[in-house]
Amino acid sequence: MKNFIKLDDLKDFNRTLSLAFEMKKNMNSYSNIGKNKTLGMIFFNPSLRTRLSTQKAANLLGINIMIMNFNNEAWALEFEDGTKMSGIRSEHVKEAAGVISQYCDMVAIRAFATLENKKNDEEEIVLNNFVKYSSIPVINMESATAHPLQAIADAMTITEYNNKQKPKIVLSWAPHPKALPHAVANSFIKMIKNINAEFIITNPDGYDLDPKITKGVKIYSNQVEAFEGADFIYAKNWCSYQDYGKVLRTANEWMINDEKMNYTNNAKFMHCLPIRRNIVASDQVLDNKNSLVLKQSENRVYACQAILKQLIDDQK
Ligand code: CP
Repeated sequence: MKNFIKLDDLKDFNRTLSLAFEMKKNMNSYSNIGKNKTLGMIFFNPSLRTRLSTQKAANLLGINIMIMNFNNEAWALEFEDGTKMSGIRSEHVKEAAGVISQYCDMVAIRAFATLENKKNDEEEIVLNNFVKYSSIPVINMESATAHPLQAIADAMTITEYNNKQKPKIVLSWAPHPKALPHAVANSFIKMIKNINAEFIITNPDGYDLDPKITKGVKIYSNQVEAFEGADFIYAKNWCSYQDYGKVLRTANEWMINDEKMNYTNNAKFMHCLPIRRNIVASDQVLDNKNSLVLKQSENRVYACQAILKQLIDDQK
């Protein structure tokens, strides 16, 4: 694997999962493979889990890290080719990526969707320019359209808590006051294709995700009907894809609460975090023993270790 930008970059999804579980069993088992290597971590957006789990994963493999918050610590970057840089953007990504490539052996990047221009977001301007101008592997720590590290951690969590041949897994839209990107939902849908499950999505009218990603998946507009007999409920908000970047309506009645969870088969509750309590899901759902949200965040460390190890191995 040259870069880890999306789940499709993995040579073998199941091998990655096994490696992540191996790391979980003994997190120090490869403590020297990153000796004398440096991971650059650059953030265009905030993070708690991704930043700390990636840092921890790197430390466990003996990798040094350099972290930079690009929004308030670095020069504002220009991504357009051939432009006359007379505005506020002081440095071109060509030089920035070239410089980071000299100091680091790998670079991990977080760059969310702007939600202003669908075409630009789908082109992954930030991530793809770093891939283009870096001479080192690039890792996606959540981009405009994908969050593959989260999806591997979610696959681990489902595997650990599933006790059925073919569980019913529901990805449910949930309310949120702000417009949020599609990255987590997109990668979750892609990841689920590797799991033997009955998978459905439920969202209000107007909130269907990119049809190229949801192709072949049943989408219910009745949330309660979708929840019936479910073994896992994965909650996530996303803004409208058709009316790109818009919050069409708050749809507060879509909050996940005990009453809705009672329609499920005693389902486990999942969310990538951060989560707004009593907006996305009720306190009762989050504080219930069936909530796996902290298990998911724990698995972020091992998922990242599995990716870093493969990138190091493939650099040899
Ligand atoms: N789930 C996740 O990526 O969390 P952070 O945004 O805090 O990194």
